[in-house]
Amino acid sequence: MKSKHARATDTLAEGQKKDARCLSCHAPDQVEQTLTAVTCETCHGGGQYYSPSYVMKDPELARLVGLVDPSEKQCRTCHDASSPSLRPFDFKEALKAIDHWSAERARKQQTRADAAPSTPAPATAKK
Ligand code: HEC
Ligand code: HEC
Ligand code: HEC
Repeated sequence: MKSKHARATDTLAEGQKKDARCLSCHAPDQVEQTLTAVTCETCHGGGQYYSPSYVMKDPELARLVGLVDPSEKQCRTCHDASSPSLRPFDFKEALKAIDHWSAERARKQQTRADAAPSTPAPATAKK
């Protein structure tokens, strides 16, 4: 909720909040669904089935019921030459800036490692 995407409407001045030329990127679903800013669904698709947190915590299940991984092309529908940035859009760097998945994935991997039966590691792996 603190991300720039979530607050992309706050950036706009009062009059601009109703200006379709700005909303197309700053709040793409405002006209049809009265949703402000760039939301989860802007990037991940309609969330009616994946939004419960127990579903989102399960990457396979979430994708099975509709969670989409946004592609670079999808980012570029808004991050294009007409958006006000001095630096060209660098997909890899931009992903790092909006990362909301790595911490959870690392935590899960750790949980899996802890749960794995402890077999003695082969000598070659001990370094
Ligand atoms: C629907 C349009 C839209 C899409 C799609 C979109 N963005 Fe954005 N993005 C914006 C807008 C608008 C801002 C500026 C928000 C503001 O400050 O008002 C922004 C800001 C950003 C910023 C700078 C703010 C920050 O958190 O550091 C990054 C990085 C970023 N977007 C990355 C991405 C990536 C990566 C994708 C694709 C996975 C993406 N965006 C898809 C509209 C979009
Ligand atoms: C083609 C998509 C697009 C349109 C249309 C668009 N913006 Fe943006 N806007 C962006 C993106 C993407 C960013 C973030 C750029 C970045 O940080 O890389 C942004 C950033 C901004 C920022 C700077 C936010 C900050 O925190 O520095 C302002 C202000 C802004 N837009 C105002 C507007 C206004 C006003 C309009 C309508 C006249 C508009 N934008 C139309 C995509 C768009
Ligand atoms: C600007 C686009 C954008 C927005 C907005 C966005 N996400 Fe994401 N999200 C991504 C990207 C990119 C990934 C990483 C996908 C990958 O690594 O394949 C991701 C990953 C995730 C994952 C991880 C799935 C897994 O594999 O573990 C979840 C869950 C998720 N997002 C939920 C949300 C929620 C909830 C919101 C709204 C609060 C949200 N996202 C907003 C782009 C976005």
